[in-house]
Amino acid sequence: MKIILWATLVANGNFAQISAENSSHREAFGDFLARAQATGNFIVGRKTFEELATSGGGNMGEIDMVLVSQTIEEIPGVKVVSSPKEALTYLQAKGYTTTLLAGGAALHNAFLGQGLVDELIFNVVPALEGKGLNLLLDQDRYQYQEVKLLGFQSLGNDIVQLHYAVEHA
Ligand SMILES: NC(=O)c1ccc[n+]([C@@H]2O[C@H](COP(=O)([O-])OP(=O)(O)OC[C@H]3O[C@@H](n4cnc5c(N)ncnc54)[C@H](OP(=O)(O)O)[C@@H]3O)[C@@H](O)[C@H]2O)c1
Repeated sequence: MKIILWATLVANGNFAQISAENSSHREAFGDFLARAQATGNFIVGRKTFEELATSGGGNMGEIDMVLVSQTIEEIPGVKVVSSPKEALTYLQAKGYTTTLLAGGAALHNAFLGQGLVDELIFNVVPALEGKGLNLLLDQDRYQYQEVKLLGFQSLGNDIVQLHYAVEHA
């Protein structure tokens, strides 16, 4: 299973927090939807899922949405699992060969921490944030890993998309 981490970053490197005021993220969200349609599925953390649901973006039509949560047991029409590994087992059993990680930071960091991410797609939006969320290889200790640039493109509205491969040892 190829696992692609998709994330919007602000220009000072934080993992961007999305809110109604951050309308500059619209193009990035359009890119996410196109990629989710192409892969047919995505995995999302509980807090991001709840944000999507309250902003009216929770209905993804034919796209298989897998929600990772240890506090939610069941939501009609949504597959709920309790761990990253369980999400992957479910998608593999359905025949998917690629999945997209929609965030948020806790979900991404769980996959990064377990060495499960194969590619990174970062959309850098023209904004700065103060204290914020970060994507981390390891929550407890310093780690450094180089990644390979696969490509870059403009998404319009001053948003630059960077695409990297993560090489596994
Ligand atoms: N920049 C972007 O591209 C982007 C994308 C999406 C969201 N966001 C932003 O990210 C923020 C939300 O991110 P967040 O880090 O606070 O929350 P999150 O990752 O969306 O959700 C965290 C929750 O997901 C579940 N979860 C995560 N990892 C798990 C694991 N390993 N095992 C079991 N359950 C796990 C847990 O749910 P339970 O507590 O139910 O167990 C956890 O409390 C918001 O500000 C949102 O706007 C940004």
